[in-house]
Amino acid sequence: MNAQGRAQQLREQIAYHNHRYYTLDQPEISDASFDALLRELIDIETANPQLVTPDSPTQRVGGVASEKFAKVTHRQQMMSLGNVFDDAELSEFDERVRKSLNLEVAEYVCEPKMDGLAIELVYEHGRFVQGSTRGDGVIGEDVTPNLRTVRNLPLVLKEAPTLLEVRGEIFMRKADFAKMNKQREEAGEETFVNPRNSAAGALRQLDPRSTAARPLSLFVYELGTVEGVSFENHWKKLEWLEKAGFPVNSRRFRAKGLAHVREVYERLMGERHSLPYEIDGLVVKVDQEDHRRRLGQVSKTPRWAIAYKFPPEEAETVVENIAIQVGRTGALTPVANLKPVFVGGVTVTNATLHNEDELNRKDVRVGDWVFIRRAGDVIPEVVKVITSKRVGEPAKFAFPTQCPVCGTLVLKDPEKAVQRCPSETCPAKMAGRLRHFATRPAMDIDGLGDKLCEQLVATGAVKTQADLYKLDVAKLMALERLGEKSAQNLVDALERSKKTTLRRFIYALGIPQVGEATAKALAEHFRAVPALLAADVETLKAVKDVGPEVARSIFEFFAFDENKRMVHALLEAGVTPAPPEASTAGPFSGKTVVLTGTLSKMGRDQAKEEIERRGGKVSGSVSKKTDFLVAGAEAGSKLTKAKELGVRVLDEDAFAALLQS
Ligand code: IVH
Repeated sequence: MNAQGRAQQLREQIAYHNHRYYTLDQPEISDASFDALLRELIDIETANPQLVTPDSPTQRVGGVASEKFAKVTHRQQMMSLGNVFDDAELSEFDERVRKSLNLEVAEYVCEPKMDGLAIELVYEHGRFVQGSTRGDGVIGEDVTPNLRTVRNLPLVLKEAPTLLEVRGEIFMRKADFAKMNKQREEAGEETFVNPRNSAAGALRQLDPRSTAARPLSLFVYELGTVEGVSFENHWKKLEWLEKAGFPVNSRRFRAKGLAHVREVYERLMGERHSLPYEIDGLVVKVDQEDHRRRLGQVSKTPRWAIAYKFPPEEAETVVENIAIQVGRTGALTPVANLKPVFVGGVTVTNATLHNEDELNRKDVRVGDWVFIRRAGDVIPEVVKVITSKRVGEPAKFAFPTQCPVCGTLVLKDPEKAVQRCPSETCPAKMAGRLRHFATRPAMDIDGLGDKLCEQLVATGAVKTQADLYKLDVAKLMALERLGEKSAQNLVDALERSKKTTLRRFIYALGIPQVGEATAKALAEHFRAVPALLAADVETLKAVKDVGPEVARSIFEFFAFDENKRMVHALLEAGVTPAPPEASTAGPFSGKTVVLTGTLSKMGRDQAKEEIERRGGKVSGSVSKKTDFLVAGAEAGSKLTKAKELGVRVLDEDAFAALLQS
């Protein structure tokens, strides 16, 4: 197809998706795919300027105001941001800025790019009078009554300039989204793909009571037309907005030059998943207002700001097959085999469907187009079927009634939604146990992956975890695809793993319901294997955080002769689990600590581990018994309470210093 034909095709596709996105709140493709279409069109039009038509979507910011709401003409156009996707493109932006302003080093303000909806709020003499969506940037929709329901939107300001147009983002916090989706699911209603779509839906409800029922939040970040105040730079503007009573993101950074911007970007990427809201990039803005004026705008985007996007975490692809995996507990997990797709920074070929109920609820069928999501290190999952793209009526997936590996009739766990293979000799279960045994938080045996575990079980070379220690280079080399070097490395790794800690050892056994935390508590309580083996249910219940159900599970595990034999065989093979060291006296020894806010340096789990390693206890709520509150960014009610009670508050730096001491 020639450029003209392709451009026309792209315009039609983009118009269609814009309509689905902005008017129907039912996107069919991910933001990344949409961006790709738009970018392709921009590229064609840049190379062939004669092909640009006045109605081309490249000439507009996005959607159109729908018929549902009254129209609002923005006093000043609501612009959109140009995107950059890598460091080279960021450098080009910086270069353009410096060249135009004739500067050695440019000064920026960096803010998280909130993944929500742009809105404009109008205040007259300090009172909220009108709020609107962006629409096409020129004309938006009047959603004032809906915006009034947003809890952190100030209706009256502490400052009262004649006119104030404020721009910001409406979004839904991750926790609020999860809660709302769960309620919808329980009520049999359709769930939302992500917080952004659910915020979009909520904002455009015709009845404000429906909006109020869906918890929305606001951050403001720019101004439109203002009368009665002015600012020399963006930083001061944000400070003023905060003082006036607006919610302004406290995660904002002044950056001098490109190197500093890069640092902020890396840092924010690292924090992305621990933040309570979704962000999809970093917005880099020139700080000085007169610089902004000098830079101006091109088409609908300012030349003084850019969005440095993060890799997308959602994508759509096709389900090529649905396979059933059998795990170490015998649980049958349906897995969607996908047409490979790049998402969350890696190429994903499989995504979990969790269990039979989940599969039925989502009604995923072979051949379907689906949204998939991979956030951070989380296992990729199928979020939703794109039903409008379903071709014909593919057969519903028939969940097997027999274990696909050993053929045993599966049993449904009455309490959980899980189907399990009950056979104690199922090779898939044994391979899963070996794999778990070898994982990093367990025995940490490098080189013992899924395939090898399956092979070791299938060939009969390994029947229990203890048999691993009988392997030698010759036996390993007899297996398919294992060279001498890998075999030797594995033997060395096995040897190294013998020296371990009791908590790792207990965790490695794969006792149902015993995760890392319980394994640690058990290690501290019993301090040696024989004491644990001998414990009855009552004794187990006395262990910190072990309830009756977990106690019974542990007891039953060791009551099973084969498990007991396996543990003894491991010890005989030379595995020596060391008891936990008694914690040394230090500032955290015997102290109760509460963590709050976002910790940017080490993350909560690590902070908790560091405290516990020093003999401290981490608790979830502040009380008179709390010794320290570690307050990260955006600490809220816990910080207020700690101050009220006179609890010692540590910021991140003070906390780090105390850990060192
Ligand atoms: S500034 C002219 N700051 O990104 C610049 N936008 O494509 C106006 N966004 O429509 C926007 N976080 O919905 C700005 N900290 C932030 C932002 C932000 C998210 C969104 C906003 C805007 C879109 C630009």
